Amino acid sequence: MKKIKVKYIFYSAILMALSCGPTLNKSSTYNNKSIETKVDSLMNLMTLEEKIGQLNQYNGFYDVTGPTPKEGQAALKYEHLKKGWVGSMLNVKGTNEVRTLQKIAVEQTRLGIPLIFGFDVIHGYKTISPIPLAEAASWDLVAIERSAAVAAEEASAVGINWTFAPMVDVARDPRWGRVMEGAGEDPYLGSRIATARIHGFQGDNFNSNTKVLACAKHFAAYAFAEAGRDYNTVDMSEENLQNLVFPPFKASVDAGVRTFMNSFNELNGIPATASSYLQRTVLKGDWGFNGFVVSDWGSMLEMVNHGYVSNNKEAAEKAIIAGSDMDMESYAYVEHLSALVKEGKVKEAIIDDAVRRVLRTKFELGLFQNPYKYCDEQHEKNTVGKKEFQDDVLDMAKKSMVLLKNDNQLLPLATSGKKIAVIGALANDKTSPLGSWRIGADDETAVSLIEGLSKFPNNTVTYTKGVDVAIGRTQFMWETKINQTDTSGFAAAIENAKNADIVLMMLGEHGLQTGEGRSRTDLGLPGLQQQLLEEVYKVNKNIVLLLSNGRPLTIPWAAENIPAILETWQLGTQSGNAIAQVLYGEYNPSGKLPMTFPRSVGQLPLYYNYKNTGRPSSNEPESVFWSHYIDQKNTPQYPFGFGLSYSKFEYSNLKLSADTFANTDKIQATVEVKNTGKYRGKEVVQLYIQDLVGSLTRPVKELKGFEMVELLPNESRTISFSIDKKMLEFFTANKKWETESGDFNLFIGTNSQETLKTKFHYTN
Ligand code: BGC
Repeated sequence: MKKIKVKYIFYSAILMALSCGPTLNKSSTYNNKSIETKVDSLMNLMTLEEKIGQLNQYNGFYDVTGPTPKEGQAALKYEHLKKGWVGSMLNVKGTNEVRTLQKIAVEQTRLGIPLIFGFDVIHGYKTISPIPLAEAASWDLVAIERSAAVAAEEASAVGINWTFAPMVDVARDPRWGRVMEGAGEDPYLGSRIATARIHGFQGDNFNSNTKVLACAKHFAAYAFAEAGRDYNTVDMSEENLQNLVFPPFKASVDAGVRTFMNSFNELNGIPATASSYLQRTVLKGDWGFNGFVVSDWGSMLEMVNHGYVSNNKEAAEKAIIAGSDMDMESYAYVEHLSALVKEGKVKEAIIDDAVRRVLRTKFELGLFQNPYKYCDEQHEKNTVGKKEFQDDVLDMAKKSMVLLKNDNQLLPLATSGKKIAVIGALANDKTSPLGSWRIGADDETAVSLIEGLSKFPNNTVTYTKGVDVAIGRTQFMWETKINQTDTSGFAAAIENAKNADIVLMMLGEHGLQTGEGRSRTDLGLPGLQQQLLEEVYKVNKNIVLLLSNGRPLTIPWAAENIPAILETWQLGTQSGNAIAQVLYGEYNPSGKLPMTFPRSVGQLPLYYNYKNTGRPSSNEPESVFWSHYIDQKNTPQYPFGFGLSYSKFEYSNLKLSADTFANTDKIQATVEVKNTGKYRGKEVVQLYIQDLVGSLTRPVKELKGFEMVELLPNESRTISFSIDKKMLEFFTANKKWETESGDFNLFIGTNSQETLKTKFHYTN
C-alpha cells in the first residue's frame, strides 16, 4: 500500500512538471530548477542503499566487453535489480530485453526509479559507419554529426539511451590499438569533431526518443600509455595535459555532453579512477560539469593491481571521494559504500552529489515521464537498418577515404573495356570492414569490395585471394591470428595479375586487429601481404593499393614503388560501394590524414606539432650533433593533414589585413585556392600558427582553423580566416590559459608540411 502511494504521488508530481524536456546548453541545464527540485524530492525518499544503487552499473546478458566478474557476482544481478540497487546496465540489446529489465526497476523496486541503458555505440549500432579515425579523416563536421545522429537514432530504437562515445583521446602513438576509436593526433581537430559527435548523439534535447546521452572518454591521457601498450602507465606534465589532452574534453563539456568516463591508466602515479585532480578539480570544478562520471569497466577493482589500494573496499572509498560517480562492473560501490559511510570514511554528502548527477540525467532523458520511451517495438522494426541510414553511412564512407598517391593519374579507373584483377582476402571480406567496436552489427553484413565493383559491369573483374590475413575466430572480443606461413594462393594471384590492365590489391589489417587490447609493435602489412605485394609487382606494376586498416601503418616500400595508394580504413556497412564509387571517380577523394603516417615504428611517437629542440631538424647540419636518427629520416611518410584529390589545388596570395594587432582586435588572413585539375573537387584548407617565443616552449605549428572548399576545374576562391587573441592562447608558465605578446608565424596550406607562410605580431 505504502509503495503504491509513494509511487503515485511521485509520478503525478513529475508528470505535471515535465511537460517538455530541457534543452542541452550549459546555462539551461545548470539553472534547470524544476529538475533540481524533482531530484531533491526524490532523494528525500531514498535510503542510503537505494542511493548507492543509482551508482551501480551492471553488464547485461550479452558478451562482456571487459574481464568477466567473479563467479557468483553475476548471479546477484536480478536480486540487486529488484532491491533498487542498480542504476544502469550496459550491453543490453533490443527493446524486449530492455523492457524486461526496465519493468523490474520500475514495477518491482520500492521507488520505481528507471534504469539507463548504456552501450558502446562507437560508430553505429547495426548500420555501421566508418571507424571514428576514418570519419575524422573527412574533416567534414556536418557528415560526422549526421553519422552520430544515425547511430543515436538506430541505437535508441533498440532501447539504448546512453552511448559510451565519443572517445576524445588525442593519440600520437599508432601502436596503441584504440587510435581507431578517436579523431587522431590533434587537439583542435579533435575538439571540433568531439563537438560534432556530441551534437549528433544528443541533439538539442531529449524530447524525442531518437537521442542518447553521449560520454566523453577516457578521462584522461589514456592514449599516452607508454610504448603504445594498452592500459600501460602514463606520466605527463600538467602543461601537456592542459594544452594537448584536455581541449577535446573541455570542448565536450562546452558542447553539453552529459557523461564522462574515466580511464584505466594511472596518471603521474594515481589511477585516473581515483584522481580528484582530474574529476573534481578540473572537470567538476574548473569546467563546471554537472553530469556524471562512470568508471571504466572494472577500473575501480584494477586499482588493486596498480598497487594503489589493497582491496575493493579501499578502491570504492578512493574512487567516490575522487569523483567517480558510477561503478561499471567492479561491484565496489554496491558491496562497500554503505559500510564506508557508516564507518565515517565517506561522507553521505559525497554520495548525494553523485546520485544527484545520475538522477538529473534520468530526468533529462524523460525516463520518469515514460520509462519505456525507448522500448517501442514497432519503432525498432521501422528504424533499424533503414534505407536513409544506408545512404548516410555510404556518404560518410566516401568522404573518409584519403588518396595517398596517384602517379600518372592511374585513378580514377576507366569505366569500361578494362581487365581488372582484384587481389587480397580483405577484398572479399564482409566482416572486416565493420571494424572493431561494432557490437550491435552481425558478421558478414558489410558490402565487400568485390560486391561494390560488381555495380560497374563494363570492366572484367577477376578475383583471387592471394593470401589470408587473419585465421581462426575473428569475431568480436576474440584475438585474431595472423597467417604467417600459408603462401599457397600466391601463384593464382600472380597469374591473375599477369593478365590484367590494372591490379587492385586490398591489403591491411583485419577489422579486429585494432581496437581495445590490440596494440602492435610492427605496423607493416600483417602476415604475408607485403611479400605478396612485391611478388605481384614483379609481373604487373599498374597496382592500386587499397589500404584497409584501423591505424597508421608503415609502408615505405609501397610508398616508394606502388603508383597509386588509397587509404580506405574500415568503412563500415557500405564499405565496398563507397570504395568502388571513389575508384571510378563518382566521388573525388577529399580526405586528409588525422594522424601522421610514420616511416618506421622506431620514429614513434611522431606527430606534426612537435617542438624544435635546441638542435632542430630543420637545419640538418653536416655534423652528427643534431636531433636525428642515423638510420632514418625525421620526417613522416605522410604528414598530418595530407591527402590528394583527382584534381590539383594551387595556393597563392597569402595576405594579412594587418601584420600586427592587439587585445580585442582581429586580423584577417586570406589565401587564394585554385582548382587546376580536370575534376570538380573538395579541398580542406588548413591554417596553422606558430608562437615563436613562449614562457613555455611552443610547438613548431598548431592547427587553428580549417575550411572545406569545393571548386570546379579552373575555379578559384579566396578563403579567409579571422585571427584573434583567443586563438593564440595556451596554458602558460603561470599555469593559466592566456595569450602572450610576441611574434607568430602563420601558415596556410594543403597539409601540415606544404604551406605558404607569413608572420604577425600580437601585443596584449
Ligand atoms: C572500454 C570502454 C568501454 C567499456 C564498456 C571498456 O573496456 O575501455 O571504452 O566503453 O569497456 O564496454
